[in-house]
Amino acid sequence: RKPVSLPRLLEMHARGEKIAMLTAYDATFAAMADSAGVDCILVGDSLGMVCQGRHSTVGVSLQEMCYHTACVARGVRRVQGTTWVIADLPFGSYQQSPEQALQSAVQLMEAGAHMVKLEGGGWTAPITAFLTARGIPVCAHLGLTPQTVHALGGYRVQGRGDHAAQILRQQALELADAGARLLVLEMVPAVLAAELTRQLPHCATIGIGAGAGTAGQVLVLHDMLGMNIGRMPRFVRNFMAGQDSIAGAMGAYVQAVKQGQFPVDAEHAW
Ligand code: KIV
Ligand code: NA
Repeated sequence: RKPVSLPRLLEMHARGEKIAMLTAYDATFAAMADSAGVDCILVGDSLGMVCQGRHSTVGVSLQEMCYHTACVARGVRRVQGTTWVIADLPFGSYQQSPEQALQSAVQLMEAGAHMVKLEGGGWTAPITAFLTARGIPVCAHLGLTPQTVHALGGYRVQGRGDHAAQILRQQALELADAGARLLVLEMVPAVLAAELTRQLPHCATIGIGAGAGTAGQVLVLHDMLGMNIGRMPRFVRNFMAGQDSIAGAMGAYVQAVKQGQFPVDAEHAW
């Protein structure tokens, strides 16, 4: 397999080939995801829950994100080295100014990330433009943005109703104009996610709890392996079911995403 690149991801979006993304936080899982044909690994700040036992992502530091990004990047390079690595900018590492975001993003890129992800819309558009103008690929993240869980009032569906949908639509267009090339849509109505996917030819949408109409899908690795110490979100499928290895589960996930068998709107979306 050829290394996944940004042009390749946008080509996949244009062709309608689904992008399969999983999170990973360490070298072994990252190498296995790479071998299983996962297109993108997200070093998500969900590591705050998965690895650190926190109740939210709010307490995760930039230094911790850099550590896990370096672990993942080494794991990917160890075997095939074909997977695109995205790292989350953690809470507090980009909110202050474009300059602060640049300094933080540089640290993640130096740790081995190919792209950084940041949450939110509106105020994030100038930050996205600042980073992309300086050669740092940006993945945006709208809908349920876990870093602002306290402002949102819980982990609940976003973009419901005409007004909320219109704001989300506007923010997505702005972020794409600012140069974001991927856009995670978390817990937004499937109809809205599908509409945005069609409206954004130069920015591939990646859904999680956003239905089957996005350009790609992402799940938290441990969730899709049936390993969850909290509440399992409704949009998760356990890919270990019917498999006898983690490699098999990852392969089944990639295949299900590529063939449009996951997610199923009625079961995994709103
Ligand atoms: O941190 C994370 O794992 C994420 C994905 C769930 C999109 O941001
Ligand atoms: Na995240």
